[in-house]
Amino acid sequence: MASLKLCLLLGLFAFFLRMLAIQGAEGTCRLLGKFDLHGYVESENRTLIIGGMFPIHFRSIPEKEPTSSEPVSPKCEGFNFRGFRWAKAMIHAIHEVNNRLDILPNITLGYHIYDTCFTTSRTVEATLAYLTGQNETMPNIRCSAGAPLIAVIGAGGSTLTIASSRILGLYYFPEVGYASSCSVLSDKYQFPSFLRTIPNDDHQSLAMAELVRHFGWVWIGTIAADDDYGKYGIKYFKQNVEKYGICIAFSETIPKIYSREKILAIVDAIKESTANIIVVYSSDIDLSPLMEEIAHSNITGKTWIASEAWVTSALIAKPEYFPFLRGTIGFGIRRGDIPGLKDFLLDVHPDNDASDDLTIEFWQTAFNCTWPNSSVPYNTDFRTNVSGQERGVNPVFHQLCTGKEKLEDIKNTYLDVSELRITYNVYKAVFTVAHALNNLDTCVEGNGPFPKKSCAIIDDFEPWQLMYYLKNVKFTTFDNELIKIDDNGDVYASYDIINWQLKETGEISFVKIGIYNDTKDGHEMKIYNNDSIFWNTPTLKPPRSVCTESCQSGTRKGIQHGVPVCCFVCIPCADGEISNETEARECFQCPDDYWPNTPKNECVLKEVEFLAYTDALGTTLVVLSLFGACIVLSVTFVFRMHRNTALMKANDRELSFLIQLSLVITLLSSFFFVGKPEEWSCQIRQVILALGFSLCLSCILGKTIVLLLKYRHTKFKPTEKHAHIVMQPLHQKLLVLISVIIEVCICTAYLACIPPYVYKNMEFQNVKIILECNEGSIEFLCIMFGFDVFLAVLCFITAFIARKLPNNFNEAKFITFGMLVFFIVWISFVPAYLSTRGKFKVAVEIFAILASSFGLLGCIFVPKCYIILLKPERNTEEIISGKATTNDKSAPPSSASCTTEISNSTLSTLALDE
Ligand code: TRP
Repeated sequence: MASLKLCLLLGLFAFFLRMLAIQGAEGTCRLLGKFDLHGYVESENRTLIIGGMFPIHFRSIPEKEPTSSEPVSPKCEGFNFRGFRWAKAMIHAIHEVNNRLDILPNITLGYHIYDTCFTTSRTVEATLAYLTGQNETMPNIRCSAGAPLIAVIGAGGSTLTIASSRILGLYYFPEVGYASSCSVLSDKYQFPSFLRTIPNDDHQSLAMAELVRHFGWVWIGTIAADDDYGKYGIKYFKQNVEKYGICIAFSETIPKIYSREKILAIVDAIKESTANIIVVYSSDIDLSPLMEEIAHSNITGKTWIASEAWVTSALIAKPEYFPFLRGTIGFGIRRGDIPGLKDFLLDVHPDNDASDDLTIEFWQTAFNCTWPNSSVPYNTDFRTNVSGQERGVNPVFHQLCTGKEKLEDIKNTYLDVSELRITYNVYKAVFTVAHALNNLDTCVEGNGPFPKKSCAIIDDFEPWQLMYYLKNVKFTTFDNELIKIDDNGDVYASYDIINWQLKETGEISFVKIGIYNDTKDGHEMKIYNNDSIFWNTPTLKPPRSVCTESCQSGTRKGIQHGVPVCCFVCIPCADGEISNETEARECFQCPDDYWPNTPKNECVLKEVEFLAYTDALGTTLVVLSLFGACIVLSVTFVFRMHRNTALMKANDRELSFLIQLSLVITLLSSFFFVGKPEEWSCQIRQVILALGFSLCLSCILGKTIVLLLKYRHTKFKPTEKHAHIVMQPLHQKLLVLISVIIEVCICTAYLACIPPYVYKNMEFQNVKIILECNEGSIEFLCIMFGFDVFLAVLCFITAFIARKLPNNFNEAKFITFGMLVFFIVWISFVPAYLSTRGKFKVAVEIFAILASSFGLLGCIFVPKCYIILLKPERNTEEIISGKATTNDKSAPPSSASCTTEISNSTLSTLALDE
């Protein structure tokens, strides 16, 4: 009993102490400031309240001198019909939930809507007001009576949402965004209680990059609003386009606080840039002043890529701006036609509630009149004065509103329900909360998601408990759209690709030209029909946007330092290189046998050069050699016909025939030089030539040696016997045979060891392959022809010494002359041969062959033929033998001796005068 008393006493004491503490706390509490928030509240007889934040005004005007007077919340200006419609849509959605029997049947939802004036400060004020109530004095405690606030829909722009969500996140208080698309809001570490019905901008940025790539634009200008939405959006866009090698021509930021200089700087950047495509990530509110200036500066010919925040905005899609913005392509979030909304929107009138300042302001702005007896200032619609002065504040005179104005009669953004995209998102946001609440309400105890399988109680639950249901919400809208919120609070991304076109009525129409969907495995972009797109170009063809026109094939891109990669110079491919595609980074070397064509876009087979039979030069040389051979054959014929004449008898006929044969060989060997060089012709030609010459020269040597001996004999008067022994015809033939055999051996060794081969010479001319014979071994070649030279030198020396033989027919002189011709030809051949290229090289060699052969032919046989054919009277036994007997009776009728028998007078015309 005593202990019970003690307990009671202690309890009383504790209660007393607590009362004292609260009183003390109240004593120090103070209302720090009263926020001047406007909006709509409906909380009477409501079970639960949903908050909502909408930009019903465009901006707030800061006080000029806040320090000298008590600071008050900045006033809002510029009535935003669109934001007003969004707010109304929320109310409409709540009404619908309340009227539906399948969702929250026993619960009536109320709402508490605040106007954010599209400013962060107002948004934070509204957020704090939600958390503590306007009249509360103690932070962290919500004391207001009435239905509890359970979630907030809002707050419009991402920057505002970031501000409010940071505060709401502290309490894990649910916030459902309908327009805040900035990707950072998906970070659940920073924003644990935020979720949204608009797709994350990462998808939109990627979609824009895909679109730009789809149309092949590589030189893009970007403009971003100076907020999280603009900055993050453009940042991700840039990251994505960089992957595709697209370059950013300029990047501008629209100031949040109106500044004409800054806007003019953007206009200048647009004007100066060659980029025809401009991507704009901004809300219509921020973009409007820039558009005004663009129209003022008459900037046409640009194609604008719109983000979802302005793609269907009436603020931008105005007839005044259309000449500058036609052909705009943008991404719109999914639209939906909310049933009954139009009627609900029409049901607005200042008479309904005299204290509804927002409706009065709406009425005043919509009908351009002043509501009688109202303190609501007259505010014209948002209008940016180009001079930069303040826009539409309290004009001097206005007609009074009668209240009989008809909303149906005016064309107003508020009533335009043709493009309900954000409005539909507001609707979805309300239904998301409603469905989550419904799930919470229908939880069966013992089967709940919370500890010990418990459920939350609809009359008294914690914000985090609703958060649980919000994160797992799944429902379908009237439009059959499945709404499912993922772990990051995001929804599935789906965009309409919209093109701005002009209707026949002169109105702007937003034509859906494609879709962009984020699928499980990647994304898909579909443009229905390229022809259905209206382009802002004179030709109505897709515009081009490049820094430098693409490099044609035959050239390559030359990257310049310090400029974006899309600006480059086109460098023609070097000799021997091609590029067969446009935009080539490098040129490629043609294979060996190929050479670039004139435009340098293809490798073509090189022209093969050789001295062909069909060549004029080739034909001439062949004809000449045939002619030579014919002459030799006719000489043979003449000799044969006159074989029984004295001159022929006195001659060594076999040696003569051998010389003729060798000359035919050398002359005809030129056939192997003409024509396409083949392995066999290369091998055979020099060899045949060398053999021909060795045969010819050894025969001549046989003759000259006899002449020399004869000369010595006459000079030094040696014995008959001596001369007879020295040179027998047999010896001559032996000499020829040995010489030829030696040459054959050299030739065989040459062909066996290092034979000549066909060689494609590409060193001297790139365009042509000179098909020539490579001699294989120069050493062997030198030995081979060296032997001929050796024989020729011997011939010359012997003939030269014997030239003074005092005979009638001094053959030694003719041979000396012939050998001189031979030497001159071949000595002059060397420099000529070395200095020519290609087929002329071969021609020079053939020419030398022909010249030397003709020289020998002319010098050795023509004098004889002359006697035989033209002076037959001298070709008698008497003249020949007469002479022979005077000189050397016993000498055999050798070729040398017989010639001496021709009278001196006859030959004086033919002989070389010394
Ligand atoms: N998506 C924008 C943001 O995150 C907000 C936005 C969407 C918006 N549509 C709009 C703002 C229309 C103003 C008007 O900031």
